[in-house]
Amino acid sequence: MERWKTIVEPFRIHSVEPIRLKTVEQRDIALREAGWNLFGVHAEDVIIDLLTDSGTGAMSRDQWAGIQRGDESYAGSPSWYAFLESVQALFPFRHVIPTHQGRAAEKILFSAIGGPGKSIPNNTHFDTTRANVEYTGAEAVDLVIPEGRVPSLLHPFKGNMDVAALEVFLAERGADNVPAVFVTITNNSGGGQPVSLANLHAVRAVCDRFGVPLFLDACRFAENAWFIHEREEGQSGRPIVDIVREMASLADGMTMSAKKDGMANIGGWLAVNDDALAERCRNLLILTEGFPTYGGLAGRDLEAIAQGLREVVDEDYLRYRIGSTACLGDALVESGIPIVRPVGGHAVYIDARALLPHIDPLQYPGQALAIALFREGGIRGCEIGTVMFGRHPDGTETPAAMDLVRLAIPRRTYTQSHIDYVIEVVRWVAERGSDLRGYRIAEEPRSLRHFTARFEPLD
Ligand SMILES: Cc1ncc(COP(=O)(O)O)c(C=O)c1O
Repeated sequence: MERWKTIVEPFRIHSVEPIRLKTVEQRDIALREAGWNLFGVHAEDVIIDLLTDSGTGAMSRDQWAGIQRGDESYAGSPSWYAFLESVQALFPFRHVIPTHQGRAAEKILFSAIGGPGKSIPNNTHFDTTRANVEYTGAEAVDLVIPEGRVPSLLHPFKGNMDVAALEVFLAERGADNVPAVFVTITNNSGGGQPVSLANLHAVRAVCDRFGVPLFLDACRFAENAWFIHEREEGQSGRPIVDIVREMASLADGMTMSAKKDGMANIGGWLAVNDDALAERCRNLLILTEGFPTYGGLAGRDLEAIAQGLREVVDEDYLRYRIGSTACLGDALVESGIPIVRPVGGHAVYIDARALLPHIDPLQYPGQALAIALFREGGIRGCEIGTVMFGRHPDGTETPAAMDLVRLAIPRRTYTQSHIDYVIEVVRWVAERGSDLRGYRIAEEPRSLRHFTARFEPLD
C-alpha cells in the first residue's frame, strides 16, 4: 500500500450511525443553552465530534462477538481471565487491577501513595491525573523537555521527560517525598507527542539512582510504540508488541484508560509489581469499584478490551491511524494555520494563542476558536489551555503554558471525507480569525472547571 497516497481505512463499515446535519442557527441556540461550553452541547447537534478520542471509537466485529461471550460471574469470570491474559501479554506486571476507566485507577493509586508534602513529577499530567494528585494534597509537577512547550518546534519525541530537570527535582525534594515518577505515553496535554525508548531508559536510570518507582500513564501506548518504530534509530524492524513490552519492562506499574488504546468504550486498569501496594490498592478498589476480578466493569467490557488490545498493535491499523491524523495536520500547516508540530498520534492541536493573538489568554482564545468551529461547521473540539489549566488550587488564575484546541480523532469512526470536511471548516474559520472575540467565565466549579463552567461572549 505504500505506493499510493490515498489513505485506505483497513476496515469496511459494518453498521452505520446517522449524523444529523444541523444549521448554524440551530447551533447558535445550542451554544446559548449550553453556556458556550461544548461539553454541555447535545451530541446530536454535532456533525463531526472531535471532543475526545476517549471511548468514542468504533468497535470491531470481533469485539462485538466478545461482548456476546461476556461472562458475568461475580468472581473469577472467564472474561476476567481473557482480559488478564491480554493485558499481561503486553504489560507483564504482577498485579492487574481492573477499573471502570483511567481516572479510577489514578484515584486509587494516588489515594495510596499521595498526600500532603508529596510530589509527583510527570512529563505532562493529564487533567484528571493532575486533579487526582492534587486532591490528595500532593503536588503535580510537569517536567517535559523545553522543546515540548514550544508548539511550532519540530522534535521527533517532544513528549520526552527532561531527564536533567528530573534529577535536580529528585535531589531537591528527596526520594522519600516522591512516591512515583510518571511518564505519559503519548503526552496528551503536550500535543499527543511521543516519548522515545531512549528517554524511558534514561528516566529509569534516574529512578533507580534515587530508588523511586517509575509508572507509565499508558493510555496511548500503541501509538507511542508506532512513533518509536517509525522515528527511533534501530527500531523500524521490530514488531510493535516487542516495543510495547520493552516500554513496560522499564516501569514498575501503570495506569491505563482502555477507552483509548484498549479500543473499548469503557474500562481501564492499574497494574503494579509491588505486592504491598497492590494489596492497599485492591482494598480501595473493593470500596469504590468492585471485586478485584471485575473492578468497575461488566464481563462483556472485559472481553471487548481483551480483543481490542490484540487489534491495536496491528501495523496496518497503526499506519492508517497515525497517517490519517497527520493528513489533517499537514493540510492545516499547508494553509498556514499554526498547530503543534510534528502532528501527534490521536489529535491535531491548533495553537489558538498564535492564531488569535488579539485575544488575551485570560479571555480564552482556545475557547473562542473551539466555539467558532462548532458554530460554523458543527465540529466539536476541546480547549486545552487556560480554561482547563489556568485556575490553581489557591484560587489564583494565570495563563496556561499554551492555548490549544484539540481535534481528537475517534478510532476507526470517521472516513477521509469527514476529515476533508474538517479541513475545509478549519480553513474557513482561520481566515476569519480576526473577527473572533474572547469570553468571560460566568460560573465555574472549584476544580476541573472546563467540564461545567458557563461562559459569556465579550463584545
Ligand atoms: C493521558 C491520559 N491519562 C488519563 C486519562 C483519564 O482516562 P479516563 O478518561 O478513562 O478516566 C486520559 C483521558 O483522556 C488521558 O488522555
